[in-house]
Amino acid sequence: MKIFYFSGTGNSYQIAKKISNSFDDNVELIRIKDNDNVGIIKDKIVSIVFPIYYFGLPVLVEEFIREINISEDTYLFIIVTKGVSLGGGVKTQLEKLFEGKKKYNYFQYITMGDNFVLDFWDATNKTERLIRNKKATAKLLK
Ligand SMILES: Cc1cc2nc3c(=O)[nH]c(=O)nc-3n(C[C@H](O)[C@H](O)[C@H](O)COP(=O)(O)O)c2cc1C
Repeated sequence: MKIFYFSGTGNSYQIAKKISNSFDDNVELIRIKDNDNVGIIKDKIVSIVFPIYYFGLPVLVEEFIREINISEDTYLFIIVTKGVSLGGGVKTQLEKLFEGKKKYNYFQYITMGDNFVLDFWDATNKTERLIRNKKATAKLLK
C-alpha cells in the first residue's frame, strides 16, 4: 500500500500517518514533491492526502495527479483536509484530472484547523482548535 501526501503545515501529514497506522500492511508513506516521477502504480490500495488551497488543489498535487498512472485494480481513496470553506472546486478539479484515467473509489473531506488567518473564526482560540482536531480524529476513525 502507498499513501502519497502533501502537507504544508502538518495537518494532512497527521491524517496520512493515522491512515498508515490503521493498516497492518507494509505501508509506504510518500511525500509529494516537485518533479515526482512515480511511474505506474500497481499497489492494491493507494491513498492521496492533501489540503485545500484557495478552494482548489495545491499546484504540486495537481501536477502529481496529472502525471500518475494507477492500475485499474487499485483501490484509490482521496482525503482532503480543509479549514472552514465548503470545499470549493476540489471535486470538480479532481473529476477533470481523472478524466480518461482510473477513477478514485472514495473521497472524503476532513475539516481541521485553518493554518492561515481568516475572518471566519478565531484561529488563536486554543479550545476551538482542540475541538476541531478531536472532530477530525473522530471522523477519521468512523
Ligand atoms: C494558501 C492556503 C490556502 C488555503 N485555502 C483554503 C480554502 O480555500 N478552504 C479551506 O477550507 N481551507 C483552506 N486552507 C486551510 C488548509 O486547507 C487547512 O488548514 C489544511 O488542513 C492544511 O493542511 P496542511 O497542514 O497539511 O498543509 C488554506 C491554507 C493555505 C496555506
